[in-house]
Amino acid sequence: MTTPNTAAPRADAPRRPLRDRETVARRLLRSAARATYDPDAVLDWDAPFDREKPFLPPERVSLYGTPLWERLTHAQRVTLSRHELASITAAGIWLEMCLMQLFLRFLYDLDVRTANAQFALTEVGDETRHSVMFGKLLEKLETPDYGVPAPVRNIGRLFKALGSGPSMWAVFLVGEEIFDRMQRATMDDPRVQPLVREISRVHVVEESRHVRYARAEIERSMAGLSRSALTRHRLVTAVGATAALEFMIDPAVYRCVGLEPDEGREMALANPHHRATRYWLGQKIVPFIEELGLVSGPAAVLWRRAGLIH
Ligand SMILES: [Fe+2]
Ligand SMILES: [Fe+2]
Repeated sequence: MTTPNTAAPRADAPRRPLRDRETVARRLLRSAARATYDPDAVLDWDAPFDREKPFLPPERVSLYGTPLWERLTHAQRVTLSRHELASITAAGIWLEMCLMQLFLRFLYDLDVRTANAQFALTEVGDETRHSVMFGKLLEKLETPDYGVPAPVRNIGRLFKALGSGPSMWAVFLVGEEIFDRMQRATMDDPRVQPLVREISRVHVVEESRHVRYARAEIERSMAGLSRSALTRHRLVTAVGATAALEFMIDPAVYRCVGLEPDEGREMALANPHHRATRYWLGQKIVPFIEELGLVSGPAAVLWRRAGLIH
């Protein structure tokens, strides 16, 4: 159970010594050399989808367990999972686009002779391949053009142009880890479409090094943070990190099962299974962000509303 606190942040007294930046980066570069995949070479894009198989683990579909879900046929449940996967994928591309620009801005002042800068460039390369892979998946899904609403896209535009420091790393971490949780469950589930499982596997392997890099960098960026800067980073983190979850499912997806978008979203938000899924998605990363002192104060209300803390 997570509760807001006003205790001194980790910035004042880091518990773990920061590992040498070059040591971490060299290890991650070796991992990239060992495990980097070409989605065109390792995935079978031509195989047709299996009409019977869902596109997500059924328990993670937002209307799972509702009275409406019980009335849906198997084919309708598969269709809803297809549309929710499309929406989640579109939100993932949006996050990767934000991340790439933020990363390039972060990189601009690094010395490219260092392993640290070379790994940061490698990460941008990973993300461009991922966005192409996800774009091809969306093309194959033949679903409508789902995505985050225009005002949120505009907040993203501002964030990717101006973001930096702890809140930038925290948004990366929460965004990457919530997708990671969904994708690990997907890749391990034999009921799910094989192509979706394989895409998830490629992404999970390559993202694990991004997460390790961001965990080290966020600790570094917290050092010596002033009170006012901490307050600002808490707010930016709450807005950015919860947006990734709030807008993962475009309400327009519910049209595929005959619901109006608002009606479907309300049903999902009232669904205890979906609330449990939201909490589960953040369970791996939110305690770490909280331990850094970034989930406290007035902005904690946003985390609670998103279902990431109780
Ligand atoms: Fe990615
Ligand atoms: Fe990533």
